[in-house]
Amino acid sequence: MSALPFSKISASLNVLLAAIGLLTVAALTTPDIAGQTRLVLEGLLASVWAAYVLQLIETLFMQRSREARGRALETTVDVLAVLVPVIALLFVRGRDQSLYCAIWLLKPLRGSTFFQLLGRVLTKEARNLIGVTSIFGIVLFGAALAAYIIERDVQPDKFGSIPLAMWWAVVTLSTTGYGDEIPQSFAGRVLAGLVMMSGIGIFALWAGILATGFYEEVRRQDFVRNWQLVAAVPLFEKLGSTALIEIVRALRPRVVPAGAIICRKGETGDQMFFIAEGRVSVATPNPVELGPGSFFGEMALISGEPRSATVSAATEVSLLSLYSSDFQMLSSSSPEIADIIRKTALERRGATPKA
Ligand code: CMP
Repeated sequence: MSALPFSKISASLNVLLAAIGLLTVAALTTPDIAGQTRLVLEGLLASVWAAYVLQLIETLFMQRSREARGRALETTVDVLAVLVPVIALLFVRGRDQSLYCAIWLLKPLRGSTFFQLLGRVLTKEARNLIGVTSIFGIVLFGAALAAYIIERDVQPDKFGSIPLAMWWAVVTLSTTGYGDEIPQSFAGRVLAGLVMMSGIGIFALWAGILATGFYEEVRRQDFVRNWQLVAAVPLFEKLGSTALIEIVRALRPRVVPAGAIICRKGETGDQMFFIAEGRVSVATPNPVELGPGSFFGEMALISGEPRSATVSAATEVSLLSLYSSDFQMLSSSSPEIADIIRKTALERRGATPKA
């Protein structure tokens, strides 16, 4: 089923609408805004809401098509974005009514690949994250206990119980340091120093686990995508599994829109391209079109000479680029493929008269 033309809201427009809506909500909490200005801002909120109604209609229509099923998060966000402001309008009185539009904070989550990525990283790293969180809990409780024992007689209003001392422990462990509770005794200050240093270590561990998780997940996704693209290039069928893994890691995917120039005649070239999808046009005296499975840009890469022709995308084209250092690796792991590329370069050189 095709998308409904009136409700096609792109991801960036979606974020823009949410930003306009939330800034309007924020502005409406300012007591100085009244009268005409208030009316204009409320009109703006109504317009954003109307756009979200159209988006909801589209989501519900699309739900009936097969490919859109299973988008539970999108549907939930779209329904909440429309329903919560309506419920507020019906049941809440006064200026708090517009506050409920803050539900639009959820809108950027809709269809966001980043949050899916974050979800996978958190799931994969759950054990390590739980481990570090447990250390955080142990240090937090230990710090509150020690602070209670050391400071309870000096400052009973602030450290008179473990729950009271817990606030100081959180503020110190997170190195926020509001300064509202400060240990007075020498032992208390030594404890504060130790807790702060533990806090830095714990946060560094969390950041390290998440950074490694993101890096590995992005690499895994690139690997899977490259693998699928490499499968579209028959030349690589000759590779053994080890060489195939190496080449999948070395190739960098790139999508070029129709009409864009990929390389220009006369430029230096340190990479060649394999076409996974789409077509390119080579501006030789007798122009040539190359399609899926073909490669180009090998002549400059092998000879070190400037590009022999300008190559542009005839359609949107999905390319895999291989840099010269990785071509050397390919030459040693699969000399037969490197030979095919070298032979093709020679044939093309013969077929391309020098300008
Ligand atoms: P390079 O010279 O690096 O950059 C332009 C590319 O166009 C070139 O490598 C070849 O891959 C490609 N090319 C040049 N001449 C021909 C041809 N006659 N037929 C097909 N491709 C060509």
